[in-house]
Amino acid sequence: MDQKDEMDDKGVSRRQMLIGTGAVAAGAALAQFGGLLKSAEAAGGSTEKWPWPYEKLDPAVTAEICYNEWYRVFCGCAVINSVFSQLREKVGEPYKSFPSDAFVFLEGGQVGWGTICGSPAGANIVANLIIGPRIAGATAGHEISADTMQWYSEAKMPVFTPKTPKQPTAIITTVSDSPLCHISVGKWMKASGFALASPERKDRCARVAASTAYQLVEYLNDWKDGKYKSTGDFTCSKEFGITGQYNCNDCHGDKVPEAPQVKKS
Ligand code: HEC
Repeated sequence: MDQKDEMDDKGVSRRQMLIGTGAVAAGAALAQFGGLLKSAEAAGGSTEKWPWPYEKLDPAVTAEICYNEWYRVFCGCAVINSVFSQLREKVGEPYKSFPSDAFVFLEGGQVGWGTICGSPAGANIVANLIIGPRIAGATAGHEISADTMQWYSEAKMPVFTPKTPKQPTAIITTVSDSPLCHISVGKWMKASGFALASPERKDRCARVAASTAYQLVEYLNDWKDGKYKSTGDFTCSKEFGITGQYNCNDCHGDKVPEAPQVKKS
């Protein structure tokens, strides 16, 4: 008998019924969850509907919020919070119910693994929640995400300078040529001589997050005005038959492997 057969029409398994107290607790939890969903819906906050309401924001204000938030929740979460904290005030739901702090794990290219930098990752979460997913026909969400990755890779980072920097030291800029945290931070550390744990490196990353939040809001404002045009020109999977970034030689040297092509019978 599979699990489905064991469920009654309330979605409570027979096993839970037998446990008794468990069923009561599960029933109460279900009822409470249903109530939450209803109240979110009543407030116009269905979690399955796109686009999420957006009102134009000031990029510089957003970047300042992001810079300060970095020192609390780090890059990805700071970018998300810098936009959503303002929309929580201006719009309300669904932003009020959105648990932005859940995305702290984006730090260090996801829990310190140096993969995608949290700043573009956070920006892409925001863009796709506001515009909607590609599978729902929202191509602009996909394009803004791709543009963010390319912009991030090509920009002299950090672009943004906060009004009152927490670090008096001048922060030099570097071009990462990659959206990867490992490479972005690594190139900056090599050029500046500052260690990962230094206050300067931290301030650099806070400013990178702020720069990304600034750029994201510019994209979103353009989209809201109906004048957003994609600037990106790179689609690795189409050009090379493999997902990836454009800086093939950085990692492969002169011998860039070729991906197997579709076998023709
Ligand atoms: C961030 C580093 C990095 C970048 C950038 C990168 N690659 Fe790779 N790629 C690797 C690593 C590591 C592997 C697995 C080990 C290997 O085979 O070299 C790999 C594997 C591959 C493979 C699978 C076949 C094989 O020989 O392993 C292909 C094909 C490939 N890369 C093509 C590309 C192309 C084309 C680009 C640029 C459009 C690119 N790569 C950019 C690191 C990278």
